[in-house]
Amino acid sequence: MIKKTLQNAINDQINKEIFSEYYYLSMVAYFESEDLSGFAQFFRVQVEEERFHGMKFFDYLNERGGKVILKGIESPKTDFESPLQVFELAYKHEQFVTESINNLMDIAIKENDHALQSFLQWFIDEQVEEEASMSKYVNQLKRLNGNGHGIIMLDRELAQRTFVPPTK
Ligand code: FEO
Repeated sequence: MIKKTLQNAINDQINKEIFSEYYYLSMVAYFESEDLSGFAQFFRVQVEEERFHGMKFFDYLNERGGKVILKGIESPKTDFESPLQVFELAYKHEQFVTESINNLMDIAIKENDHALQSFLQWFIDEQVEEEASMSKYVNQLKRLNGNGHGIIMLDRELAQRTFVPPTK
């Protein structure tokens, strides 16, 4: 049975993952309204990933005999200025999530919960990819500097992204 402090921290993390899903869905809506369906596709896949992250914590807490307590989801930002701004916000958000996962690991270490530490390692590695992916497009969009042709080319590239559920 998992300790109460850890149960609370995991429930907070579930909320953050579901909020991430909602936040990225708001970005999908922005890109669809701008007719940038490739950018929208990139964030549709991101929505799936966040759902996967949230459910991974959800299932784990159940498996450890804890109680999942769902909390209200904050309304996400709905107005965006440009593709660059969206990716900058997404990158910033991923850095926030990384910090949150690191804090969770610190609590698991403090509480001497080795099983949770092992489980969290997957998220620690995943966050490296999450940040790298957002940072890459921040840099590319800065280089494009609003160039219309370049944005259309990038839109075509982003349209190729598909969600592949991780196997472990
Ligand atoms: Fe669930 Fe994008 O971190």
